[in-house]
Amino acid sequence: MKIAFASDHAGIEMKLVLMEYLKGMGHECVDYGNYDPDDRDDDYPVYGRKAAEAVMRKEADRGVIICGTGVGISLAANKVPGIRAVVCSEPYSARMARAHNNANMLALGARVIGRELAKMIAETFFTTEFEGGRHERRVEMISEIENDYRGLSID
Ligand code: RB5
Repeated sequence: MKIAFASDHAGIEMKLVLMEYLKGMGHECVDYGNYDPDDRDDDYPVYGRKAAEAVMRKEADRGVIICGTGVGISLAANKVPGIRAVVCSEPYSARMARAHNNANMLALGARVIGRELAKMIAETFFTTEFEGGRHERRVEMISEIENDYRGLSID
């Protein structure tokens, strides 16, 4: 699988660890930045967007995005059409996010969990298949919401 990685400064160390780990599992990993841990003025939406666009354009099959909490970067990624990014801090949610929600991006909080737990979560996310069936309809319903509100803003 080809995996798009991105993080802000808070997630760079964990991103590099996970890229090596997933390469060891046979995946191709591409880093969309940030590359500079000293650049603390970087903005997580920039990187969530870059990785999400790579998945949307099918340059990558899935993505892993990391910021301090995983929250900001997942909020940004989820604004890109077709993206289902989930923040996971334990493997059960990672498994169900794949099996039931067909999540295509995993978001992690580098200031929330340690690297060994992050590896376990990533391994679960990348080895669990979508179950389809009744879950297909629900995932399609999420896309319908996205389509219904495309181009509209609350401002
Ligand atoms: C950066 O300090 C931090 O706000 C960011 O990494 C992330 O946690 C935001 O959601």
